[in-house]
Amino acid sequence: MKPLGPVPAGYDAIDGVLAVGGRPVTYWAEQAGSTPLFLYSIAHVRKRVADLRAAMPERLALHYAVKANPYPPLLSLMTQLVDGFDIASGGELEIVRQAGIAPNTVSFAGPGKRDAELEAAIRAGVTLNLESEGEAARALAIGERTGVIPRLAIRINPDFDLKGSGMKMGGGAKPFGIDADRVPALVRQLAGSGVEWRGFHIFAGSQALDAEAIAETQAQALDLAARLTGESGVPLPHCNLGGGLGIPYFPGDKPVDLALVGERLAERFEHLPDALRDTAFCIELGRYLVGEAGVYLARIVDRKVSHGEVFLITDGGLHHQLAASGNFGTVVRRNYPSAIATRFDAPAEEEASIVGCLCTPLDKLADKGGFPRADVGDLVAVFCAGAYGASASPASFLGQGPAVEMLV
Ligand SMILES: Cc1ncc(COP(=O)(O)O)c(C=O)c1O
Repeated sequence: MKPLGPVPAGYDAIDGVLAVGGRPVTYWAEQAGSTPLFLYSIAHVRKRVADLRAAMPERLALHYAVKANPYPPLLSLMTQLVDGFDIASGGELEIVRQAGIAPNTVSFAGPGKRDAELEAAIRAGVTLNLESEGEAARALAIGERTGVIPRLAIRINPDFDLKGSGMKMGGGAKPFGIDADRVPALVRQLAGSGVEWRGFHIFAGSQALDAEAIAETQAQALDLAARLTGESGVPLPHCNLGGGLGIPYFPGDKPVDLALVGERLAERFEHLPDALRDTAFCIELGRYLVGEAGVYLARIVDRKVSHGEVFLITDGGLHHQLAASGNFGTVVRRNYPSAIATRFDAPAEEEASIVGCLCTPLDKLADKGGFPRADVGDLVAVFCAGAYGASASPASFLGQGPAVEMLV
């Protein structure tokens, strides 16, 4: 039997059935009228943000990275909970606009921004996190042509990465950001060209569980911001310290020690160098805020035994949950937390694999896990489905189409 990832805190059973948003998931499946189904728990997101706010220094603003989950009702919820939004494309700009989010709380990072995207962002008053000198030149030209003053920040490619992170986005040659040693000259150029200078964006990695490593990276980001501000001689209004807080997906993963990260950052904030004394700070988080709030539900449509192995074949699959299938940024496939949702408090009785309905051996949601005996009609749950699920999976593959999503 292969181990399953840890079920996130906050999930219980009602009459033996997994509950989300205070109701058994069978209720939501009935409301939705079909499966597969993503449920995003309002209470879970609220608690996560409250815990984070309580642990972090008050001076640190909190931004939500829309890429983690752009589901409009979830975005509306986030407008009540966070101070700003990070977007990664013109498409996400449109999504935040439709959610009624104030553009002056939005920043736009990501390599390869097209001119039309830059122009839409500049016209809207969104801060651009510039990823290259070429992008800076294009933004300046658009500002001149349109007569709109661009709000510009520089994304720095730092000389360090976030140790232990699932995705490293700094430290060496990267398509992201501008190498640190070239930043002061560009800051001077931007500040002298009449744009609204917004500051630095330093994003060194994502999906890290090691609080020491996160704290160390934040400290390095502060040092770097102070050094480059000193070198440029231009005051730093704002500094985005990146994010990187991860969630436990796999067996043995432990939650981030939030208190440690918060204490270390508070210490650093108390002893800020002169260059950063008046700077406003934020972090931008995606999966940490919403990942564990999401549950993916699929219904078992067939149960079969092949060469002695049990397969629970569902109406869902990797087209909605690419990451859980192990095909989105993982080298070795390991099991996400999963369960038979309709027998949530029953003990494990058999070894079974939960698979999807796609005709590929890649379409596996749980490999040889221990589950209560389940049958056709039961619902399976894959946890940690609130981030990089619905929007990061190939929903149209094999003509399947998207899953229903509900904020509950
Ligand atoms: C610039 C930037 N911001 C935010 C994020 C969100 O990361 P996460 O969802 O792990 O918090 C990413 C992820 O790749 C990113 O590249």
